[in-house]
Amino acid sequence: MGENLIIKHATIVTPVGRSARKGSEMADLRTIADGCVVARDGIIEYVGPTAECPVADTKGFREIDAEGRALLPGFVDSHTHLIFGGFRPDEFEWRLKGDTYMSIMERGGGIQSTVNATRATSEDELVRRAQWFLDNMSRMGVTTVEAKSGYGLDTETEEKMLNAIRRLADKEGQPVRIVSTFLGAHAVPKEYAGRTDEYVDLIINEMLPRFKSMTDCCDIFCEKNVFEIEESRRLLTAAKEMGYKLKLHADEIVQLGGAELAAELGALSADHLLHVSDAGVEAMAKAGVVATLLPLTAFTLKEPYAPARKFIDADGAVALATDLNPGSCFSGSIPLTIALACIYMKMTIEETITALTLNGAAAIGLADKVGSIEEGKAADFVMLATDNINILPYYVGMNCVRTVISGGRTVVENP
Ligand code: NIG
Ligand code: FE
Repeated sequence: MGENLIIKHATIVTPVGRSARKGSEMADLRTIADGCVVARDGIIEYVGPTAECPVADTKGFREIDAEGRALLPGFVDSHTHLIFGGFRPDEFEWRLKGDTYMSIMERGGGIQSTVNATRATSEDELVRRAQWFLDNMSRMGVTTVEAKSGYGLDTETEEKMLNAIRRLADKEGQPVRIVSTFLGAHAVPKEYAGRTDEYVDLIINEMLPRFKSMTDCCDIFCEKNVFEIEESRRLLTAAKEMGYKLKLHADEIVQLGGAELAAELGALSADHLLHVSDAGVEAMAKAGVVATLLPLTAFTLKEPYAPARKFIDADGAVALATDLNPGSCFSGSIPLTIALACIYMKMTIEETITALTLNGAAAIGLADKVGSIEEGKAADFVMLATDNINILPYYVGMNCVRTVISGGRTVVENP
């Protein structure tokens, strides 16, 4: 249940809208100096100047004086793999010594190694571990998180992961909103080695129908030697027919045409895109597919950053997310994501804010509920330590979030 809250004297900075902001709109933030927000039952009902605050009798409201500090929408981390068993620190070391992500996967490590560990981990334990990550994310200003399945690769364990995500989402006092994505097509499990088509059949015939009531989105690792374009098209088309919204891990390791496939199928987002073609950028922009870029993964894998500017200049919509997972990117750092986006992907600070709020919300189908400070949306806010949004990339990799509010409730008060 949300709370009644009034915040006064804030420097409100927010994108505006109920869909992804594209191209030049991404830099177009609404700023209200000495702004006020009124929320009832966790939903915003007034945004405007403090001088015009419509609530005269503040009884029944909690009041916060922002003392001029910047107030942004809560951050949306729209791509994470936060449910998993085990850890893979030795792979990290092998990569430091020159191994590649795919060579480790091809010899049975990588995702399959986390699959083995996740199958052996109880649902209770998965919930407990994920909560630790969620609490960390919350302290950095995240108020909405997408969590994927995909370390089960059998019906039973995929269901265990989706159940764990649902329990986290429903947990009393949970500081973040959580939505799930089904990623049964994260890899071909060892039992199906060399029989990718049969595994795709299992997903289509058994998993997708079974999980439809548990999640809205279906994702796939569309990659050379994992699920190639034809296999991805077959699976995603079936998912779409069952009413799933589509997401793709696309063009992450090599240029395969995942972006073009996302456009063809009208996916909600295509993610990673480190090696996207120019035609893929154009096609996604035209089709309104959100490009979810994950700079922490590029950083960790020592790969080139995704071409954020190409997407924005093509009038496309860019979201940013962390990709938190035990392999390719064991980090959920929002501050570092912001710094990398500004420094290496040439995104402006304003574009970065839109990408981490409204466009992240759009990438998980929630742009009508969260992602901006507007009437009718959830009272999810991040208050920075200063009035100046430039602090976000400037204080490199450091947390400059002071207060985090979720549904009108203060969930983090950083010293
Ligand atoms: O987004 N590339 C596929 N999936 C994840 C990595 C998962 C893992 O390595 O465990 C990613 O990079
Ligand atoms: Fe991922």
